[in-house]
Amino acid sequence: MSRYSAITGWGMHVPEQTLTNADLERMVETSDEWITTRTGIKERHVVRPDESAFDLALPAARQALERAGIEGKDLSLIIVATVSYDYRFPSTANLLQHALGAQCGAFDMQAACTGFLYAMSTAHQFIANGSARHVLVIGVEVLSKVVDYTDRGTCVLFGDGAGAIVLSASEQPGGLLGYTLGSDGANPELLYIPAGGSREPLTEEGLREGRQWVKMNGAEVFKFATRVMGTAMEEALANAGMTAQDMDLFIPHQANLRIIDAASRRLGLPQEKVFVNIQKYGNTSAAAVPIALCEAIDQGLVYPGAHLGMVAFGAGLTWAAAVVKWTASVATKPTARRATPITVTGRRS
Ligand code: ACO
Repeated sequence: MSRYSAITGWGMHVPEQTLTNADLERMVETSDEWITTRTGIKERHVVRPDESAFDLALPAARQALERAGIEGKDLSLIIVATVSYDYRFPSTANLLQHALGAQCGAFDMQAACTGFLYAMSTAHQFIANGSARHVLVIGVEVLSKVVDYTDRGTCVLFGDGAGAIVLSASEQPGGLLGYTLGSDGANPELLYIPAGGSREPLTEEGLREGRQWVKMNGAEVFKFATRVMGTAMEEALANAGMTAQDMDLFIPHQANLRIIDAASRRLGLPQEKVFVNIQKYGNTSAAAVPIALCEAIDQGLVYPGAHLGMVAFGAGLTWAAAVVKWTASVATKPTARRATPITVTGRRS
């Protein structure tokens, strides 16, 4: 009998503190007008100094387990997608395994902003080959700790957060229907943290030069992203035997509203089928897609039988897309509407 991978639980968590465009205006030479028109971002959530990836991932994971109606001990595997782990080692997944009372394997993986879709596809393999029943998949980032708040080209973009799903084996047709994963490692320096790895261990000189912070060639990443988002989504749809017109909701990586709009146009999608929450969170990297999924569900945009398209791109360069036929019962089909018009006014809580 076939084994399908269904999303049976979902959860999210963002830190309380917000960093608004007005706050950033006081930190670097920028303006609310520039950030809003170039990116769509109004505010992002950022951790306190004593908060880590684990602290964001744990409540998201607990919520996902609760919604799936299972406990930590029922998990077969935990996969955490992150580039802002608690320690170089052990993995954040290890810490979560203990905190959740799970008795299973646990590991971190990274594909930068694409990490969650890589992790979900990996989880699917364990389910499809019969070696896992319930896999907890988490995307979590605390990029505020590796962003240079004197570099206006990057510091306005990123925020912190966590999103989690439980992917469960199911006999009911549906769940993850198709996906694609991509990588082009020709130019890692387009978006990277130069120091702190084995290529360039951190030194006092490196610290002085700020080589521990994110460096990005924004224009090149932008060009790549506008190209790859649409093509990756089309590829995953084709792998599922579908076209863009079959998608009920498009949940793209939330990196830049202009990139999302370009991908949506390429796919021929009307605005009401495109989920956007970048205005509230900025780019939360590996957490962006699962956070968007959670909010789409909470807003009643996801219903049994709905086909969801998810796509992400990130450092590497990497990209991935997935098509999920929703099977869990969450809400009745609502009247179509664009998920979240950009109306948020920034404030620091
Ligand atoms: N405020 C004001 N001006 C700014 C700011 C800012 N925050 N940032 C850059 N500028 C200036 C630049 O210095 C430049 O000025 P100049 O012409 O005098 O040199 C001008 O604005 C235009 O700069 P561009 O880079 O051309 O601006 P662009 O319209 O491309 O927008 C942006 C920049 C938002 C960074 C865009 O390139 C982008 O979104 N790129 C993709 C980035 C991305 O998504 N990265 C995450 C990938 S996911 C992951 O793995 C983490």
